[in-house]
Amino acid sequence: MYIAPFGVEQWMNEWETGAVANLAETCVDSMTAAELLDLSGRREEILEQMMDLRLSYGDILGSDEIRELIASLYDSADRENVVVMNGGAAANFIAMFTLVSPGDEVISVYPTYQQLYSIPEAFGASVKLLRLRYEDDFQLDIGALEKLVTDRTKVICVNNSNNPTGSLMKEPLLREITRVADSVGAWLYCDEAYRFMVHDPGVKVPSAADLYEKSIVSCGLSKCFSLAGLRLGWLVAPKQFIRDVADHRDYTTISCGRLDDLLGRVAIKNREKIFARNLKIVRKCASVLEEWVRNEPRVGCVKPECGTTAFLRYDYDIASEDFCKRLFKKDGTFLLPGKCFGPEFDRFLRVGYAYEPGVLASGLKKVSGFLRELEAEET
Ligand SMILES: Cc1ncc(COP(=O)(O)O)c(C=O)c1O
Repeated sequence: MYIAPFGVEQWMNEWETGAVANLAETCVDSMTAAELLDLSGRREEILEQMMDLRLSYGDILGSDEIRELIASLYDSADRENVVVMNGGAAANFIAMFTLVSPGDEVISVYPTYQQLYSIPEAFGASVKLLRLRYEDDFQLDIGALEKLVTDRTKVICVNNSNNPTGSLMKEPLLREITRVADSVGAWLYCDEAYRFMVHDPGVKVPSAADLYEKSIVSCGLSKCFSLAGLRLGWLVAPKQFIRDVADHRDYTTISCGRLDDLLGRVAIKNREKIFARNLKIVRKCASVLEEWVRNEPRVGCVKPECGTTAFLRYDYDIASEDFCKRLFKKDGTFLLPGKCFGPEFDRFLRVGYAYEPGVLASGLKKVSGFLRELEAEET
């Protein structure tokens, strides 16, 4: 079965190792296991639990406790609405594997995490892309969505907040999308990998899972919890859909690791502390980035409202892959070319900014040095 190469992941695999300043990272500064245990205040007790843990398959869909903890992150979910996966990536894959059959019509926003349209396409769906535009602050145009849906639309895929743009759909727009989905009986698929990192503490954004009966939501511990190494993600969906997913998951997963489950429970129980740590990093770094963009007249950016990434538009006559390769070869500064998100985005760069602000600032300074080099070549 053909599946389109995963642009972003392939670029990361090829170039990430050896980066001196990695400005493409999308997780909020990853934690060590020791940091997580210390933050919980129960280091010794948890270490003992780990030592005593029998390394069997464990509960197939995830422990009851972790499923309950995940359900508690949503207003309208209980344990049976939740299944645990090997990261958000596996959650997205198995959800599409369960949902999409050849001939189905799928609509996906674009740019976004490529899984949301390339996996349905590989399973034989006809995929319509709904482009998000810089000029619209990368917000979904509801009129354009209304024009795209038909009675055959099986699922509408969105990503809130959006990777790469950092744009955030708030409740009124989300409700409009559910209205359009409902008008044709479509599922709403919402990848919410970054939703817990809304920068403005006054802005509350509901999960799609709490707004629409036919919604399927994916999320995980990689980005907002800084624990990508646990490989722990989940789906929240109607109970029958979770049962259908379980049938497909038996063939691919059996169960997720018991150690991951145990540490995942520690993380979710301590989410307030983790989110406080991470929001501090995200807000500080977003302001470093904003300041840098302000001082670069030929670089533009829709101010990210959530998550860890921003999509920089530049006005230089160089393709985004050449830009990133030359920058990397110059001094090891690593950015992600917009072209990885599709040919239309070839004058964009994705920056991931949620780590040590000093590292971000010095990496951006190197990007400025490279921009001066490009300017010198123009004369
Ligand atoms: C929007 C989005 N969804 C899902 C994933 C997959 O992440 P993970 O499998 O680590 O949860 C990523 C990773 O970059 C992402 O950006």
